[in-house]
Amino acid sequence: MPKKNYYIQLFSIHGLVRGSNLEMGRNADTGGQVKYLVELARALGSLEKVRKVDLFTRRIRGKTFSPDYDQPVEQLSDKVRIVRIQCGGTRYIRKELLWPHLDEFVDKTLKFIKDSNDLPDFVHGHYADGGYVAKELSTFLGVPFVFTGHSLGRPKQQRLGENGLSEEEMNKQFHIDRRIRVEEEVIARANLIVTSTTQEKEKQYGMYSSVASGTFRVIPPGIDTRRFHPFYEDVFEGSEEQEKIKEARFFMTKELERFLTHPEKPLILALSRPDWRKNISGLVTAYGMDRELQAIANLAIFAGIRKDINKMDDNEREVLTELLLSMDRFDLYGKLAIPKRHDFEYEVPELYRIAARAGGAFVNPAFTEPFGLTLVESAASGLPIVATDDGGPRDIIKNCKNGLLVDVRQPQEMSAALKKILVDADQWRIYSQNGIRGVKKHYSWEAHCRKYLAEIAKLPFEKIAATEIPDAAPAIGRRFKSLNKLFITDIDNTLLGDEEALERLGVLIRQNRKKFGFGVATGRPLEAIVPLFEESSFPRPEVIIASVGTEIYYTKELLPDRGWKTHIAAQWQPEQIKEILRRLPLLRAQDEDPEREFKLSYFMEAPEYLARVHQALTENRLRYNLVYSQGRFLDILPFRASKGKAIRYLCYKWNIPLGHTLVAGDSDNDADMLRGEMLAVVVGNHHPELEKLKGLRHIYFASGNHAAGIMEGFEHYDFLNL
Ligand code: GLC
Ligand code: MG
Repeated sequence: MPKKNYYIQLFSIHGLVRGSNLEMGRNADTGGQVKYLVELARALGSLEKVRKVDLFTRRIRGKTFSPDYDQPVEQLSDKVRIVRIQCGGTRYIRKELLWPHLDEFVDKTLKFIKDSNDLPDFVHGHYADGGYVAKELSTFLGVPFVFTGHSLGRPKQQRLGENGLSEEEMNKQFHIDRRIRVEEEVIARANLIVTSTTQEKEKQYGMYSSVASGTFRVIPPGIDTRRFHPFYEDVFEGSEEQEKIKEARFFMTKELERFLTHPEKPLILALSRPDWRKNISGLVTAYGMDRELQAIANLAIFAGIRKDINKMDDNEREVLTELLLSMDRFDLYGKLAIPKRHDFEYEVPELYRIAARAGGAFVNPAFTEPFGLTLVESAASGLPIVATDDGGPRDIIKNCKNGLLVDVRQPQEMSAALKKILVDADQWRIYSQNGIRGVKKHYSWEAHCRKYLAEIAKLPFEKIAATEIPDAAPAIGRRFKSLNKLFITDIDNTLLGDEEALERLGVLIRQNRKKFGFGVATGRPLEAIVPLFEESSFPRPEVIIASVGTEIYYTKELLPDRGWKTHIAAQWQPEQIKEILRRLPLLRAQDEDPEREFKLSYFMEAPEYLARVHQALTENRLRYNLVYSQGRFLDILPFRASKGKAIRYLCYKWNIPLGHTLVAGDSDNDADMLRGEMLAVVVGNHHPELEKLKGLRHIYFASGNHAAGIMEGFEHYDFLNL
């Protein structure tokens, strides 16, 4: 049954995102994708079936940036917002360098979701970074996830390779391997992948090994059909909009007249960046070689904005120089217009209409064209098209039947197609009408949203929500979102030691499943924890903090908390530490098998030797956290890790007040979780080393031992009724 009234979360992390006055092209990360997302969010928000749309992006602050990008929430309409989440600090970071900060983005988004107490029905990630975030959230929240690549790493890697860039360079500049790894995983896991064209799906996604497991749908983006309206339609008489359009018409016409001897002839229009892949010179050759075509129509090429060609990039300069030289070679004076500037807001849309009014045509001679936005804009204006037989144009012509596909490597083919359209008035009219109708049907945002929601309705909502954690409880994020209390205990000598009391505690936990979450925090490695619970009837922990706080896992699926990993990895140099401690005589390595990623452990029976250990490590400028317990165990951890820090992280991430967290322990490796705001219980059988905590706030010393002591603590704090 299709779901109704969706709450949709979209993720587009990089670039400069705001609701109006997009700074298109201000930097390499602020372009088509950003525009796509803002338009999509608005369009979705206007649908009855959509309850709320949040577009998540990164929050940015900096002297050179508008304060708009520093607003945590920007309301676009009653149902649509842009939500900005901080990660990796406040300054601008280009997308290739955002990878290490994405887990922070995930954590803070979870916190945002918990704070607002509203769970999305599904999440939709855009580009590899947004895809990663959506994938993680979907696991935590138990909701489906959708992915749109916009562009992909493997085709880029290939292109860069063809341009002679080494793999090493690609990774240094673009972190291309990391991007591709993430993309493989996202493709394998997404419940739906949206592409703009058939070719994107086949050729680009086809380069990924996980492609076979993906569910793909081609749903082309929409264009703003108010801005690109048919040439015969006028906007409201007397409106400010109309004034601007009239002005644009006047100046564009005048600009063309500067170049053309017979400006009244039909116009062949081309519009693209000055990039050799756009094959502008192929078009000039086609026109220059065909006298007949020159007699029928003028040619106008708008190739970006230029001031001084000499100061442009190599690629651009070469393209423009070649253009000027061929104008001279073919003697196209009076027939070829190459204006130096145009604005995108009003002049470009008006240009299509100027060309259409005079019965002209639009041509896209690019060698390859992934989508072909200008072709859709022409179609919307009622201007027939001639386009390269590749990628997006194939879909456009198939959908709209508004022109002809040609092999752009054959100049005669191009000019023949143009003549066919320009001389046959009946055919011209059919193409023109087909284009206008086709865009409404296939390339408007309304059309996009209609197809999108039809696909969304097929997502496996129930199946995904029902997986994860025991007792058929919902996925971890849902569970944690509903939690307001947490009980976390050490295992050895705290939880374990009294069978009978343990059984009673087990019953108490089971009976109060709804009231609090249950977890363990221990020095043991994961492999030595799981069997304990598999073999007994004791409830399974929902969170496992293993290896002295260096690893966090959720549910019986043992989902690792990646955010924690990234957080503690900072400045961790295990090889150096091992090397230094190897030389100290009183230490014996525990030689754990397998080795833990973030924990080095030793046996050491001489507490007085601790100062020497610290000295050796600090002398070498290493950052670490040292935990010494029971006069015997020495653990060296990353400076950000410990059992207590792991619990604080959990409480922060899942928004559970520290004062609602009950913790229990018996030895010094529990000490830092017992101190502070949490409700601490020290069991009666504790190691003497904990005596030092006596008298501190929120630390209850129980008289009962083991699980019996823990239950005493429950009563002492009246934990169940907090
Ligand atoms: C557990 C771990 C050990 C650690 C000790 C104290 O016994 O297996 O590696 O040193 O706890 O934290
Ligand atoms: Mg213990």
